[in-house]
Amino acid sequence: MAIKLKNVWYRYPGSRNWVLKGISIGFSREEACAVVGPNASGKTTMLKIVSLLYKPTRGEVEAWNTKYWDLPPSKALMLRRRVVYVHEKPILLRGTVAYNIGYGLILRGHSIDEAKQRARAILDSLGLSYLADKEAKSLSAGEAQLTAILRAIVIKPDIVVLDEPISHLDRSKRQILVQLLAKMKRKGIGLVIATHDLILAETLADRIIYLERGAIVGVERK
Ligand SMILES: Nc1ncnc2c1ncn2[C@@H]1O[C@H](COP(=O)(O)OP(=O)(O)OP(=O)(O)O)[C@@H](O)[C@H]1O
Ligand SMILES: [Mg+2]
Repeated sequence: MAIKLKNVWYRYPGSRNWVLKGISIGFSREEACAVVGPNASGKTTMLKIVSLLYKPTRGEVEAWNTKYWDLPPSKALMLRRRVVYVHEKPILLRGTVAYNIGYGLILRGHSIDEAKQRARAILDSLGLSYLADKEAKSLSAGEAQLTAILRAIVIKPDIVVLDEPISHLDRSKRQILVQLLAKMKRKGIGLVIATHDLILAETLADRIIYLERGAIVGVERK
């Protein structure tokens, strides 16, 4: 199991309300999971815990069989890099789409040229070459969302965690994204997707996790 939540409870600092109440669930590579549930049920919060960004208030998170929050920072960083969280509202850097998509590769020691080339290749393969040289700040919401998703994918993480990935996408871009996610799944990248789109959940997921008021109320395996 890549990431395992063990009886995780969470409340935001300064708040008295428990947002997650005793969540126990694991996520592995080679599986796509959808997390569905009403607004404020705790999906985003759970995804951030799965992505090793939030430390549970109570309970444990195991990442590749080690207690993640007990690790020294250098070891923690190595594991954290294997999981990528894609924010619902993408945060892009100044510069072109190709630069933005290649950014994770630059951080990992690739040259800027090489990173941009890889970014162009992925855009070409999706029929989105026209985006490569656009300035990030000039993008539509849907284009920005796709750019952020491609930026996460290009570094080939073990698990990609997507928060409402299709909320801004039109039909054609949805199709592109669904095909891309299906391809990632075939390549053995684990997916955890919070979505209100039950069609997306049904088409893509091997497992659907139902969340209500901070608790898992059902798991459907397909
Ligand atoms: N930074 C924060 N500080 C305090 N409370 C927060 C914070 N972020 C979220 N919450 C609260 O935590 C609860 C769960 O929020 P969360 O964003 O995880 O829900 P969600 O299921 O993702 O909802 P949505 O479908 O609207 O995206 C909500 O009641 C929300 O108000
Ligand atoms: Mg949310």
